[in-house]
Amino acid sequence: MKDMGEPKLKIVAMPKDTNSAGNIFGGWILSQIDSAGVIAARELSPERVVTISMEQVVFKQPVFIGDIISCYAKILKVGTTSIKVQVEVVAQRVDKLGCMACIHVTSATVTYVSVDREGNKKPISEELKKIHGFLNS
Ligand SMILES: CC(C)(COP(=O)(O)OP(=O)(O)OC[C@H]1O[C@@H](n2cnc3c(N)ncnc32)[C@H](O)[C@@H]1OP(=O)(O)O)[C@@H](O)C(=O)NCCC(=O)NCCS
Repeated sequence: MKDMGEPKLKIVAMPKDTNSAGNIFGGWILSQIDSAGVIAARELSPERVVTISMEQVVFKQPVFIGDIISCYAKILKVGTTSIKVQVEVVAQRVDKLGCMACIHVTSATVTYVSVDREGNKKPISEELKKIHGFLNS
C-alpha cells in the first residue's frame, strides 16, 4: 500500500470471526484497526493511549475466512494530547484460479489520546513530536 510503510499488524481471518451471513464480522475488523492504530500512536505516546474516536470507517469490500489481513497505519496529525491515525486494511486472498489477489477492504481514521497509568490525559512529549516530524502539526 503506497506511502503507508510496512503493515503494523497481520492476521488470518478465522471461522470464529464470522457473522450470521458467514462473512467476517465488522466488529472484528474494527478491533484489528484499533490495534494497528494503537501500535502507530504509541510511537508518540509510548506509555499508553486510549481510543477517543473512530471516524470515517468504510467497509469497502467483505472479508472472508482464510483472508490474510494486513493493517497499515499512518499518523496524520498530532495535537497536545491527541494522535490522529489513518488505517487501511488489505486482504490477501487466493481466487478460484489459485492466484493471490490483494483487496483494499476497509479504511478508517482513528484518534487516540495520550494518557498516564491512571487514564488521565497527558501531553505528548515535544521531543517525540520533533523526532517524528510533527512539531508544527
Ligand atoms: C480520553 C479521555 C481521557 C479524554 O479526556 P477529555 O477530558 O474528554 O479530553 P478532551 O476533551 O480535552 O480531549 C482530549 C483530546 O482529544 C481530542 N478529542 C476530543 N474529542 C474528540 C473526538 N470526538 N474526535 C477526535 N478527537 C477528539 C481533543 O481535541 C483533544 O486533543 P488535543 O489535546 O490534541 O487538543 C477521556 O475521554 C476518556 O477516558 N475516554 C474513554 C477512553 C476509552 O476508554 N477508550 C476505549 C473505548 S472502549
